[in-house]
Amino acid sequence: MEKAAIDALLKEMQAPTRGEPTPRVKAIVDRIVRDLFYVIDEYDVEPSEFWSAVNYLTQAGRNDEYGLIAAGLGFERFLDVRLDAAEEAAGLTGGTPRTIEGPLYVAGAPLCKGEARLDDGSEEGEILIMHGQVRDTDGRPVAGAHVEVWHANTRGNYSFFDKSQSPFNLRRTIETDAEGRYRFRTTMPSGYAVPPDGSTDTLLKQLGRHGHRPAHIHFFVSAPGYRKLTTQINIDGDPYLHDDFAFATRDGLIPAVERNQDPDAIAEAGLNAPFARIAFDFELRSEAAALPSAEVQRPRAEAA
Ligand code: BEZ
Ligand code: FE
Repeated sequence: MEKAAIDALLKEMQAPTRGEPTPRVKAIVDRIVRDLFYVIDEYDVEPSEFWSAVNYLTQAGRNDEYGLIAAGLGFERFLDVRLDAAEEAAGLTGGTPRTIEGPLYVAGAPLCKGEARLDDGSEEGEILIMHGQVRDTDGRPVAGAHVEVWHANTRGNYSFFDKSQSPFNLRRTIETDAEGRYRFRTTMPSGYAVPPDGSTDTLLKQLGRHGHRPAHIHFFVSAPGYRKLTTQINIDGDPYLHDDFAFATRDGLIPAVERNQDPDAIAEAGLNAPFARIAFDFELRSEAAALPSAEVQRPRAEAA
C-alpha cells in the first residue's frame, strides 16, 4: 500500500470521538498500532496469519507465560539497560550490577536475622554456603539491609510454581547484621528451562533459539536511603553461562565457586559432607532525586 494511504487510515481511526484521551496511553497505543499496520503491510501478513498471532497471544496469557516471553525477547534486559543509562546520566556509578528479576519471585518469604538455611532438607544436592557483606559505594557496611534471596532446586524448578516443593523452599529474606553481613546455607541450584512445548518454547523454537538459563541465584537487596538492587549471581562453569535465553549474565555477577573436600574445612563449617562456597559482597547505590524508581511495580506472586 501507499504510505500516504496507511497514514490517512490511521488518522481517521485514531481521532478521538468521545471525551479527553489519556495523552500518554493514546500516544503509545497509536504508535504501536501504526507500527503494526506497517509490519502487516511490509510482510504482507495474511488474515489467517494475523488471527493465528491473536490466538497465540490469547493462549500465552492463559498459560501465564508473558513474564517468560518478556524476558526471552529481551524486554526485561532492555528495561535494565535503560535504568543503568539513567543512573549513569545522573552521575551514579559503582555498585553491584543489576540484572533482571524474572517472573518467579514470591512475596512474603520468612525473615531471618544474619543467616538462614534456605532448603527444607528434602533434596540430596550439593551443599552451598554463600556469604558476604552489604556495603555502600564508599565501602561502609549497611546494617539491617534486607537480602531477599530465591532460587531453583536441583531440577531447575521454583517453589510455589512447582507444587511438589514445600512453601518458601529456597526463598528467604535475610537481614544483615551490625557489620552488614549475611550468610546462608542451601542446595546448589540447576539451570531453569521454559516449560517444554509451552508458548515461550514454541516461539523461541521458531526464532531458532532455546529457552535455557544458566544456574543462578536471585537477590533483591534493599535498605532505606539506597536504591533497591535487583540482581542475580550465576554459577560459574554452567554450560549456559554466556548463553542465557533471558540475557541476564553480566560481568561482575559470576563469583568463584570454591569446592571444599577437606575434613577440617567441613567440620569448621559445621557440616558432615563436602560443600561449595561462594563469597559475594553487594554494593548499593545511594538514592537520588529525579531518577526512575528502582522499586519496580509488577504483578508478583504472593504465598498465603
Ligand atoms: C528465572 O529467573 O528463572 C527466569 C527469568 C526469566 C524468565 C523465566 C525464568
Ligand atoms: Fe531464576
